Amino acid sequence: MIQYALGMKNVLVINGPNLNLLGTREPDIYGSTTLNELETLVAGWGEQLGMAVTCFQSNHEGEIIDRLHAGRHAHDGVIINAGALTHYSYALHDAILATELPTVEVHISNVKTREPWRRNSVIAPACSYAIYGRGIDGYKFALNYLANRATSPPLTISYGVADDQVGDLRVPATSGPHPVAVLLHGGFWRDHWTRDLMDGLAIDLTGRGWATWNLEYHRVGSGGGWPLTLEDIAAGIDHLADIAPSHSLDLAKVVSIGHSAGGHLALWAAARPHLSDGIPDPVTKVPLLAAVGLAPVSDLERGYNEAIGDGAVEAFLRRAPDDHGDRFAAASPRLLLPLGVPQVIVHGTQDAAVPVAMSRSYVTAATAAGDQVTYHEIDGADHMSLIDTDHDAWSIVTRELDALR
Ligand code: DQA
Repeated sequence: MIQYALGMKNVLVINGPNLNLLGTREPDIYGSTTLNELETLVAGWGEQLGMAVTCFQSNHEGEIIDRLHAGRHAHDGVIINAGALTHYSYALHDAILATELPTVEVHISNVKTREPWRRNSVIAPACSYAIYGRGIDGYKFALNYLANRATSPPLTISYGVADDQVGDLRVPATSGPHPVAVLLHGGFWRDHWTRDLMDGLAIDLTGRGWATWNLEYHRVGSGGGWPLTLEDIAAGIDHLADIAPSHSLDLAKVVSIGHSAGGHLALWAAARPHLSDGIPDPVTKVPLLAAVGLAPVSDLERGYNEAIGDGAVEAFLRRAPDDHGDRFAAASPRLLLPLGVPQVIVHGTQDAAVPVAMSRSYVTAATAAGDQVTYHEIDGADHMSLIDTDHDAWSIVTRELDALR
């Protein structure tokens, strides 16, 4: 079912300096899609969400500012790729603020992994969200973000001091106490993938009576990886204890649901009360009732040996040369079995990112270790199908969740 964008009917998409040359400009960085093709794609993606998209490109700071001013009352949201202006135009920052419109900053390339000066965005504080490093699909994710936020605005709550230590809470309109689904996004723990990936699932589950806590966490490239990512997940889930009374959350019914690397985190979090030492504080304030892994990276050793996600496990664990498996032992769900809570594992047969064979052998091992595991292999489903609420796999997941509460 398409989430039509309530209150997000007209979206202004602005591309800044040099983006008129898309397609021919540094194609190894920005791809081969031309600006014209991009604008056609963006209009089509908007249409699928029930949005009218107006596109504008200029190489001139003043013209972009004028366009933002002119659009203040004509649009409901803005997507802006400000090009290099991103890194120094305070005038643009002020213009975005002045529109008072939800604005998503988009970059085609991964600005965090390029020259140091590209890492800084002076417009970011004026924007609601940033999406980078996802190619031109970034504009599609930005449209989805605007649609989802307009349809179901969450309460964003900090569980730590850093920008990445936040979660989006959505609470059902019905009276509580509500069971809680902790959503953990994937992206091989890398920083250009963020919690917007799970917005659709969060909104759907909130409509089904679950309070949803869609967690952000430090990722590789923004200070995360071992051990901070794991510490964030622990702190983020434990933070539910602080917010439960004011939001009528049922702490006896907290389930983790993670996709891909987030599936790893969802399974790991379930094992946390049994971790023998160290990472992180072993005192678990909010134990999980169950864990759901959607194409999860359940076996870090195997993922490491098979170099899944272009060496993602290696980048995540940052093992020292004298580490003979300590980090695998503390972080890999496969080595932490039995987790001691019921698990639901779902994997598509056409998954090119995380091999379905990993789930098959994990499920066999978990069952042999005494865990109660339900496994669903979805014929023909690929990696991203498992976070698509329109896909058959999602109805299987929601049925399993209904049985848990
Ligand atoms: C860009 C990144 C900027 O640093 C650069 O100046 C651009 C394009 C991107 O889309 O990746 O012009 O915004």
